[in-house]
Amino acid sequence: MQATDICRNGALSCARVHVCGSQTVGMQLALKDAFCGAAGGSEGRGTGRVKFVDLFCGCGGASSGAVDAGYEVVLAVDVCEYALSVHRVNHVGCVHICTTLPPSEPLPLPADGCVWHLHGSPPCTRVSKAYQQRDSAERQNALAIIEWYTRFAVFSSATSWSMEQVATPVVIECLQQLSKCLARTRFDYEVIDLMDIGVPQHRKRVIAGSPDVVSRVRRLARWRQSVKDVIPFPRATHLRTYMMNSNPKPDPTGNKKWVYKRYSDDEACKPITDPAPTVVARHFFRWAFPNTDSKLVLFSVGEMASLQTFPHGYFFGDKKRKAMRCIGNALPPLAMQQILSGRKPSRQRTQKRSVLADPASPSYDRRLHATFKK
Ligand SMILES: C[S@@+](CC[C@H](N)C(=O)[O-])C[C@H]1O[C@@H](n2cnc3c(N)ncnc32)[C@H](O)[C@@H]1O
Repeated sequence: MQATDICRNGALSCARVHVCGSQTVGMQLALKDAFCGAAGGSEGRGTGRVKFVDLFCGCGGASSGAVDAGYEVVLAVDVCEYALSVHRVNHVGCVHICTTLPPSEPLPLPADGCVWHLHGSPPCTRVSKAYQQRDSAERQNALAIIEWYTRFAVFSSATSWSMEQVATPVVIECLQQLSKCLARTRFDYEVIDLMDIGVPQHRKRVIAGSPDVVSRVRRLARWRQSVKDVIPFPRATHLRTYMMNSNPKPDPTGNKKWVYKRYSDDEACKPITDPAPTVVARHFFRWAFPNTDSKLVLFSVGEMASLQTFPHGYFFGDKKRKAMRCIGNALPPLAMQQILSGRKPSRQRTQKRSVLADPASPSYDRRLHATFKK
């Protein structure tokens, strides 16, 4: 099947094939045929691999992990044109749909009888720790999308499904409520710090999904990697985070709502022999030598991508800020690969990822490296 793009939002220009109104039905049938074959066989296009559908696909962290686990990514949906174009470059042969979820028209999902996995990472910014004290209407919208996706997955014909979210109290409470009304045979969840399954950064997440997927998450081998393990050519002994303030705590005097402790520059430095703080969408880390007045140097896109365990050569486009947003939002491929396969990757594969930060690698940000050398 040719790579097919569908744009359901007239304002966007990402489509190679525009589908609207009744045309969608025809497209849906055509895609179902492609997924399941004329006879409706479960192995689809004869690749023998289980199909993977990625909703809120972003630049493809989850999809990339699925490929590593031996799945075939067949459908990717996101509202962000840039993220979807990054996904498209790295996952050719997959159907890309640029639209807002929940969709106004049915999605071209694999037909009943196919063996397929559904994954979704609904947007988490508005339910994150940093945001949840602010706009409650926005937070309710974000929770509504999480609830929509969960119900959609539970009632879909997917053989198995998963969802990744930040593990904040509002999200956990939402999942607890859902667990009261959804069948245990179809819904479960577990909180895990992805650092404990080899991702070289603190990244506490909740993984919800079908019970087979969640029990696999619980059984995963625990192992750790440091920054140094994935960036073989580090440019300093420490990294400095954008976090200049500690986590806010309620003010016991009641004078202020929240109290912050301001970090000194050196307190914000973390040794690269440890896992990094959480990679987020808006901020690059900086290379640093604490207790010296040496210049701070920004991490390159490739180095940030290494901390998110993207494979060598993954292309993030030419817009650095947008690329960083995609990287920070992603589910680390290494985590998705283990969630789907239940296995730690071979040493060879882990080493392959590390090459990304090699200054000789094409993905390395040469301009920044040159700045550093000056
Ligand atoms: C957490 S990120 C997904 C990361 C992705 N799973 C990965 O591993 O790279 C959430 C994504 O949802 C997209 N998004 C936000 N709201 C959306 C909506 N209503 N419909 C579709 N996509 C949406 C954003 O553009 C963003 O790419």
